[in-house]
Amino acid sequence: MVRVSAPLLGLLLLCCFGFLAPPAAAEYVKYRDPLQRLEVRIRDLMNRMTLAEKIGQMVQLDRAVVTPEILRDYSIGSVLSGGGSVPLPKATPEDWINMVNGFQNGSLSSRLGIPMIYGIDAVHGHNNVYKATIFPHNIGLGATRDPDLVKRIGAATALEVRATGINYVFAPCIAVCRDPRWGRCYESFSEDPGIVQQMTDIILGLQGEIPENSRKGVPFVGGQDKVAACAKHFVGDGGTTRGINENNTVTDWHGLMSIHMPGYYQSIIKGVSTIMASYSSWNGEKMHANRDLITNFLKNTLKFRGFVISDWQGIDKITDPPHSNYTYSVLAGVQAGIDMVMVPFNHTEFIDTLTGLVNGEFIPMSRIDDAVRRILRVKFTMGLFENPLSDQSFLDQLGSQAHRDLGREAVRKSLVLLKNGENADGPVLPLSKKAPKILVAGTHANNLGYQCGGWTITWQGLSGNNNTTGTTILSAIATAVDPSTEIVYRENPDSNFMTSNNNFSYAVVVVGELPYAETAGDSRDLLIAEPGYNVISTVCGRVKCVVIVVSGRPVVIAPYLDQMGALVAAWLPGSEGNGVADVLFGDYGFTGKLPRTWFKTVDQLPMNVGDANYDPLFAFGFGLTTEPVQAN
Ligand SMILES: *[C@@H]1O[C@H](CO)[C@@H](O)[C@H](O)[C@H]1NC(C)=O
Ligand SMILES: *[C@@H]1O[C@H](CO)[C@@H](O)[C@H](O)[C@H]1NC(C)=O
Ligand SMILES: *[C@@H]1O[C@H](CO)[C@@H](O)[C@H](O)[C@H]1NC(C)=O
Ligand SMILES: *[C@@H]1O[C@H](CO)[C@@H](O)[C@H](O)[C@H]1NC(C)=O
Ligand SMILES: *[C@@H]1O[C@H](CO)[C@@H](O)[C@H](O)[C@H]1NC(C)=O
Ligand SMILES: *[C@@H]1O[C@H](CO)[C@@H](O)[C@H](O)[C@H]1NC(C)=O
Ligand SMILES: *[C@@H]1O[C@H](CO)[C@@H](O)[C@H](O)[C@H]1NC(C)=O
Repeated sequence: MVRVSAPLLGLLLLCCFGFLAPPAAAEYVKYRDPLQRLEVRIRDLMNRMTLAEKIGQMVQLDRAVVTPEILRDYSIGSVLSGGGSVPLPKATPEDWINMVNGFQNGSLSSRLGIPMIYGIDAVHGHNNVYKATIFPHNIGLGATRDPDLVKRIGAATALEVRATGINYVFAPCIAVCRDPRWGRCYESFSEDPGIVQQMTDIILGLQGEIPENSRKGVPFVGGQDKVAACAKHFVGDGGTTRGINENNTVTDWHGLMSIHMPGYYQSIIKGVSTIMASYSSWNGEKMHANRDLITNFLKNTLKFRGFVISDWQGIDKITDPPHSNYTYSVLAGVQAGIDMVMVPFNHTEFIDTLTGLVNGEFIPMSRIDDAVRRILRVKFTMGLFENPLSDQSFLDQLGSQAHRDLGREAVRKSLVLLKNGENADGPVLPLSKKAPKILVAGTHANNLGYQCGGWTITWQGLSGNNNTTGTTILSAIATAVDPSTEIVYRENPDSNFMTSNNNFSYAVVVVGELPYAETAGDSRDLLIAEPGYNVISTVCGRVKCVVIVVSGRPVVIAPYLDQMGALVAAWLPGSEGNGVADVLFGDYGFTGKLPRTWFKTVDQLPMNVGDANYDPLFAFGFGLTTEPVQAN
């Protein structure tokens, strides 16, 4: 047994467990006082910070490499989950909270106890998380033309994110996709900047309604049930040549301002906390290194007062090949005006490089102070100093029935009816619930992973029904029809099958693209996955059929259109397949409108509404409507 003298014990407690005890009553720390004005708190805290602590705040690391000790020792500003970076497979909300709080403990035990902010790609619901509600990807939300719905989805997403102890989302993507060959086109609400502007209302759901008369440009987060948002990717990500991901957007100032910039202006007015730089270039200059646009325009002209964050290894990619001159990358990125750097793995390399650049006077202290002031402004605004740790009060929000109902509403409003042929007995849609025998066919009818697309559970998305919970289109149909209806399901029915099963009342064919994200989704031909076209021809040649296309964008469909009885663009609807059945069977009418131009042939691309020689298969804004039917 070791005897510890009382004074020694006191010292031990003070030095090693000091963060457990509240500060001595007499000690008044101004930046900790929520009654002080925001800018006073920021100034007080910054006056106490060393250069190392300031640079630490500018660092964001992936959870895979971070430890509470790293957060404490380097005063690291932020942690993120990259796509699919989860604490363990099928982690529960409690698992997430324990992980985040464990990291936060590290930050709180740093010298000044500055809490970290935890970011994640919650881009269509809290999509990395098992059993979260997966909402339609943005292209489907654009089809709803319903900013209020999108705001409610933002609010639901904030609650699901808070259920896991997380307080910051890398959403919304406000790209204006001008070429569907781009692998991120589904992350864009529309090719039309006006629709993208309206849909920035999702920020009001994520962060909360900005108070009247609040100062424009100041970040706003309304409380513990809200999260900080991130408008991305600044700017011109959706305008790259031939839709090549991360490539060069060639357009003049007018094109940039009229097409790609309006969404940022709206986001700033709506109080967005952060803005992410784009990997892409504008007229040959990397956006991560563009001081004119990030500092002079976004910060100085538009008066954005939140922080600018880089994309994943985004500063590394300033050079070609990436990371070939890291010193130059850090210099160019920070000097351009990037405030927080999504490093995301090697913190010592970034910290040493930036420290050297500041000490060598290549980067002025004023630039570091600007970055840290902005980061702290967001943290104070969101109440992070008062409530750094999460409790379990939002646990039951994850995948709640209310959110699934909201997802279902979004799905039924997002579907666009492109063709509804007339038979002897009237239009093909809505379908009868009381048919004796029906066929459901195709690769995407019974595949929740395909229905959700990329950015679901993993970065690239998955196949099958076992990776999260939800309702497939097949099971939604099974629930909707009369119990007497016999449903035959075949992923790939051949002509022999069709010949020997010739008394289906109708067929529902569900085909589309396989999941993808970012560069892996860049496509030159925009074809649906095999054997989709064969299934369309085989089935639709023999029985009245409805084709549902599950895809992140318009795809080649013109050669097959004549065979189809009806055609529905379902986009990437997410976990709530019931929304598809709601409109197929007429419980609700079709109302969705194309958020993009649907091309006839790929060689027409790029082709957007307003272009000269506009010759689409289905024009931007097209969408047939149906009336709801009673007692079908
Ligand atoms: C945070 O640290 C305190 C003190 O070490 C400990 O009691 C608590 O369990 C920690 N919480 C988490 C979530 O790690
Ligand atoms: C654009 O893509 C082309 C072809 O892949 C490539 O050679 C070029 O370097 C890219 N440009 C940028 C700015 O990324
Ligand atoms: C890297 O960039 C720095 C800063 O611009 C420059 O001084 C240095 O020469 C570059 N190094 C190489 C190997 O190109
Ligand atoms: C971080 O970068 C430094 C400098 O390039 C390198 O020496 C070190 O091995 C890297 N650490 C890791 C974990 O990759
Ligand atoms: C998915 O789960 C179902 C039901 O539990 C099971 O029958 C099937 O084998 C699973 N599929 C895979 C690929 O694990
Ligand atoms: C997805 O589900 C399949 C089948 O159960 C399983 O083998 C796979 O590990 C899961 N993937 C993830 C990332 O959870
Ligand atoms: C037609 O349908 C009835 C009942 O749905 C079934 O009994 C019969 O075998 C079917 N005939 C063919 C040729 O599939």
